[in-house]
Amino acid sequence: MLVSAREMLLKAHKEGYAVAQININNLEWTKLVLQVSEELKSPVILGVSEGAAKYMGGFRTVMAMVRELHDHFNITVPVAVHLDHGTYEGAKAALAAGFTSIMFDGSSLPFDENLAKTKEIVELCHSKGVSVEAEVGSIGGEEDGVVGTGELADLEESRQIAATGVDMFAAGIGNIHGPYPENWKGLDFDVLRDIQRVTGGIPLVLHGGTGIPGDMIQEAISLGVSKINVNTELQLAFAAATRKYIEEGKDLKSKGYDPRKLLKPGTEAAAQVVRDKFTLFGSVNKA
Ligand code: 13P
Repeated sequence: MLVSAREMLLKAHKEGYAVAQININNLEWTKLVLQVSEELKSPVILGVSEGAAKYMGGFRTVMAMVRELHDHFNITVPVAVHLDHGTYEGAKAALAAGFTSIMFDGSSLPFDENLAKTKEIVELCHSKGVSVEAEVGSIGGEEDGVVGTGELADLEESRQIAATGVDMFAAGIGNIHGPYPENWKGLDFDVLRDIQRVTGGIPLVLHGGTGIPGDMIQEAISLGVSKINVNTELQLAFAAATRKYIEEGKDLKSKGYDPRKLLKPGTEAAAQVVRDKFTLFGSVNKA
């Protein structure tokens, strides 16, 4: 089922688990995420950054690919197709292309502009039954060209953005896109607790899910995080398995250079990361 992220997140929030947003990059990624979700009967959110959409041939191509793979593989679990870190223009274009969920990331704009544009995107999306994520503060590191300084969310700003009626709320709590450095201080649970208090209990989103230890994930879920985004961890697993295949010379044996064979070990490694995340986040059998 292609659906908005609203109901699946409200259910996760109520029952104390989180839905994974797994970012997709190509057909292999999309297929593996859909198939693992069905295998483990887990709801899922397919994250699509503007850069990834551009790479795949635009928002409409992405939607067509997801829709057809979903039907072809008889996917029955709830699947949302979500714009990740959308600009104002990108949010409107993804909505027009049929995305079922939109993140408008106005965190780098002056706050008044973030607030006004978030309000407008919420109205537009909700009139079509599409869910909306907004962000205050910024996630450190880089996600497909979107660079953040990693500032912690301001509480009054968080309160005002949450009050626009967004369905989920992303706040910077010391999380970073990409691998965490050795000296990372960890998630700031005091800020998360405050954000949960001022945002009226809406589902919270944790970006930068790669490499966050299990105990921090559990604590974040207990403090209202219902959506956790993972991207880099699949890419690292894919690259390592592909490297091994080539270093073992397997691409040179028989027809090992056939892309369907060459991409298989990496795809299987990325699929295992998805299984592990669904298990850690508690979404298995929650579809
Ligand atoms: P990672 O790449 O660190 O897993 O973060 C993904 C993310 O937050 C997408 O928005």
